[in-house]
Amino acid sequence: MSRAVFPGSFDPVTFGHIDLIKRAASVFDELIVGILVNSQKKGLFTTEEREMLISEVTKNIGNVKVTSFDGLLVDFVKLNEADVIIRGVRSSLDFEYELPLAQGNRKLYEKADTMFLLTAPEYSFISSSAVKELIGYNADISDYVPIEVINLLKTKGDYDYAGRKI
Ligand code: PNS
Repeated sequence: MSRAVFPGSFDPVTFGHIDLIKRAASVFDELIVGILVNSQKKGLFTTEEREMLISEVTKNIGNVKVTSFDGLLVDFVKLNEADVIIRGVRSSLDFEYELPLAQGNRKLYEKADTMFLLTAPEYSFISSSAVKELIGYNADISDYVPIEVINLLKTKGDYDYAGRKI
């Protein structure tokens, strides 16, 4: 059985992430989405909320599991007996960032190979950081994130249908 992990912060999950999850899940028998727990950084959503959001938006993909991890990614890979780490690449800038991470992971654990999926062009401008910035400027984020993210945002404060602060 082939198993891949797709690690990330997912704060929040975007349409770009969801596209990558679908595509990776169609290649491997099992895809484990691993949300990095970062206690140093206060995010938009808690780890539990991110986990709930990703579980909700991937509930129709049978071979996707969602969980969180802290510590080294390679330890998460070992724990789950995964064959491969999946990362998305939007641009050459992403690749510059990803290359030392992938090489570092392999140095830590030889079996931790990274496979890159190229982000679909329609999602290549989307990032969680951009979403958070847009929220800060009261801009529309409905082209970036699923409705579940916007609905949860609404419970945290005053946001309109497009995830804008009102
Ligand atoms: O969504 P992100 O923030 O780009 O994801 C980054 C992530 C979680 C993949 C990366 O920060 C990570 O793997 N962190 C775990 C710590 C680790 O293993 N670091 C060593 C890398 S060589």
